[in-house]
Amino acid sequence: MGEVRPLLAAVLGNPISHSKSPRMHNYWLKQRNINGYYIPIKVEVEDFERTIRSLMDMGFSGVNVTIPHKVSALKIADESSSIAKYIGAANTLIFTKEKEIYADNTDAFGFLNNIRCKYPSWNPKKGTSVVLGAGGASRAVIAALLSEGSEKIIVLNRTIEKAEVLKRDYNNKITVEPWEHLNDIVVSSSNIINTTSLGMNGKTFIPVNPKFIPKEALVSDLVYTPIETNLLKMAKSRGSRTVDGLGMLIHQGIPGFEAWFDQTPLVTEELRKILLK
Ligand code: ATR
Repeated sequence: MGEVRPLLAAVLGNPISHSKSPRMHNYWLKQRNINGYYIPIKVEVEDFERTIRSLMDMGFSGVNVTIPHKVSALKIADESSSIAKYIGAANTLIFTKEKEIYADNTDAFGFLNNIRCKYPSWNPKKGTSVVLGAGGASRAVIAALLSEGSEKIIVLNRTIEKAEVLKRDYNNKITVEPWEHLNDIVVSSSNIINTTSLGMNGKTFIPVNPKFIPKEALVSDLVYTPIETNLLKMAKSRGSRTVDGLGMLIHQGIPGFEAWFDQTPLVTEELRKILLK
């Protein structure tokens, strides 16, 4: 009888020790009774491509990629999904049988699916979406909304120039407003999405007046430390629908797991608890 080789995947980043992905994927491997491992690997920028090629030679099925390698991950790929090209960065690499690298970006999928799991009737097309922040996470959220045919997207960022760059990259399909207009913009929105680090433990809060949050709006925060941010608390107090950031993190992991391990993982309350520990 031949040796049964475990299936292997990893997450590459720098720093990497804080990453929740190993805990999540190893939970799923156990849940699905798969003979496999998912490991964190700290990689310097200059070693990224060499490490990827070595992992492929060692028989890994693929990897997740996080800061600072997301743009390089797309560049070294032989093929990539349209959403990864659109965002300009990849977070998931799949090594094919032909020893080629396929790059995907599952952040947009994670953002949309997380909301849909909680609110199946949510329609991203309808109304104005207000996106706070203009970093990498903001890019993925905007790509998700644009791919769904969102009517109107307004981006607010402390450094307005960064939002202007984003607007140019997305062919002027979004509107940019100064950070100071936050309350005036939020008041007539259908979706409010925080992609900044504001509201995280130890940081200041999003400077929005709760009375401007529409009751009908869906409010989503990508921050998950704490799980109920000040923004989500305010939204709840207004009676708005809320979605937390842990769900997006979990959902962005699903397509990679399916590609590497050939099974669909389940999102459970137990997993959420494990990741929050
Ligand atoms: P990510 O890739 O996770 O989106 P990032 O690129 O570092 O992370 O972006 C962080 C976001 O939080 C940015 O939009 C940043 O605003 P600036 O572009 O002005 O830096 C925003 N942010 C961080 N601290 C902030 C603060 N105190 N007030 C307002 N926005 C803040």
